[in-house]
Amino acid sequence: MATTGVKTYRNYIGGEWVDAVGGETFESTNPATGETIGVFPKSTEEDVDRAVEAAKAAYEGWRLVPAPKRAEILFRVAQRFVDRKDELTELMVQEMGKVRAEAGGDVQEAIDMTYYMAGEGRRMFGHTTPSEMPDKFQMSVRQPVGVVGAITPWNFPIAIPSWKIAPALVCGDTVVFKPATDTPALGERFVEIFEEAGLPAGVLNIVHGGGATVGERLVKHPDVPLISLTGSREVGVKTAQNGAALLKHVHLELGGKNAIIVMDDADLDLAVDGILWSAFGTSGQRCTAASRVIVGTKVYDQVASKLVERAEKLTIGYGLDEGVEIGPVINKSALEKIDSYTGIGKDEGATLLTGGEVATGNGLDQGFFYRPTIFGDVEPDMRIAQEEIFGPTTALIRASDIDEAIRAANSVEFGLSSSIFTRDVNKAFRAMRDLQTGITYVNAGTIGAEVHLPFGGTKQTGNGHREAGQAALDFYTEWKSIYVDYSGKLQRAQIDVVESPAP
Ligand code: UN1
Repeated sequence: MATTGVKTYRNYIGGEWVDAVGGETFESTNPATGETIGVFPKSTEEDVDRAVEAAKAAYEGWRLVPAPKRAEILFRVAQRFVDRKDELTELMVQEMGKVRAEAGGDVQEAIDMTYYMAGEGRRMFGHTTPSEMPDKFQMSVRQPVGVVGAITPWNFPIAIPSWKIAPALVCGDTVVFKPATDTPALGERFVEIFEEAGLPAGVLNIVHGGGATVGERLVKHPDVPLISLTGSREVGVKTAQNGAALLKHVHLELGGKNAIIVMDDADLDLAVDGILWSAFGTSGQRCTAASRVIVGTKVYDQVASKLVERAEKLTIGYGLDEGVEIGPVINKSALEKIDSYTGIGKDEGATLLTGGEVATGNGLDQGFFYRPTIFGDVEPDMRIAQEEIFGPTTALIRASDIDEAIRAANSVEFGLSSSIFTRDVNKAFRAMRDLQTGITYVNAGTIGAEVHLPFGGTKQTGNGHREAGQAALDFYTEWKSIYVDYSGKLQRAQIDVVESPAP
């Protein structure tokens, strides 16, 4: 596609929109139409260093701004997200491909998170606790840490930056933001809103470019003590290794291979609604997507046929067009990877029940569209039931009882989300306790996390941290314990032991 008339974008460093030092560029394109969205700087290490320098300088002022005042800027940001929701939604459909309703949901999630974290400006509670000695006061308070490197994915291009940046800012940290190279225009728009809301120069900076240069430099930069990354397991491991050399705090949000369990006693129509939404919403490109469905043997055939019938009726197309339910996947290599898993599933002996091919014709030829794909007769140890595909493919597995279902659900390396459909409260509680995931749903699919609860997963999905909810504050601050002795004399803890009153 020609790039004449296409907008050229810049980095935002220290409150200025600036070109990258090296002058190289890359393009962002619409995955449904192939049209060019914009041209962006392919930044170098030097650009990252400049941004870190700006963020480090701004930190000295920002950390001293009272938290409720930092929060007032976030309230203004949230309101601007509300005012510009339609425009951001439309750009998201164009740049990322998700359908209009879902793109609106992505922006809404950022609105919710920004308001929620703005509220923390007047909370951010610490603890006071009695001392074991007389005339001594003690408390623990949250303190900011410094510059955050926020490395975000393309699948939630407005929501996930807000999960990292809103808590970081209210806590008093400053940020260098590297958005995914598939969705740089949305990253730019995100930062523009903070600028408009009056965020001081240097507090939030954006540097465009690839993970191997921009991301890696952030992770290795000595003046960036906090790294928050949402991405693949492979990049996560490398990030943790690089961060370890400087004992950085590294928050990782990685893969998922989430299962929905449908017990024989479930409301099957409700379960089918939940499966379709969780497996094919966002074309399966959510960390929380349901790429496995574990079904009771008695209802397996019924569930499989209802699912196939409904999946075949889903409308595939450009997300801005009326009635479209399934948009494109993000790019060519994603499409190829998804299609290769169809081949893998067939070779492993699973039964392809529907889909399993690139969707063409009807105006789809310029984009990266894949048909909703359902495999039946899948064994829990097959590759299509173990590996993250990140596309509209789901695998049906049989289970004869709750024990077998939970065993199958837990048999993967990841542990983000899980779900059970059942009318039996005993089975529901077994699942809530025993499913090894950071998120479990009862009688709902695997997607749809709200911003005020912790978000993250067990096992290879992450490294124990959580984002969103109060848990986010634990990552973006460090605890400081403060002891104030007002006795006027030396009191030695654990040595000058005060006797308990005699009985
Ligand atoms: C992701 O896919 O990384 O629960 C985030 C959900 C959304 C967030 C998904 N609220 O599906």
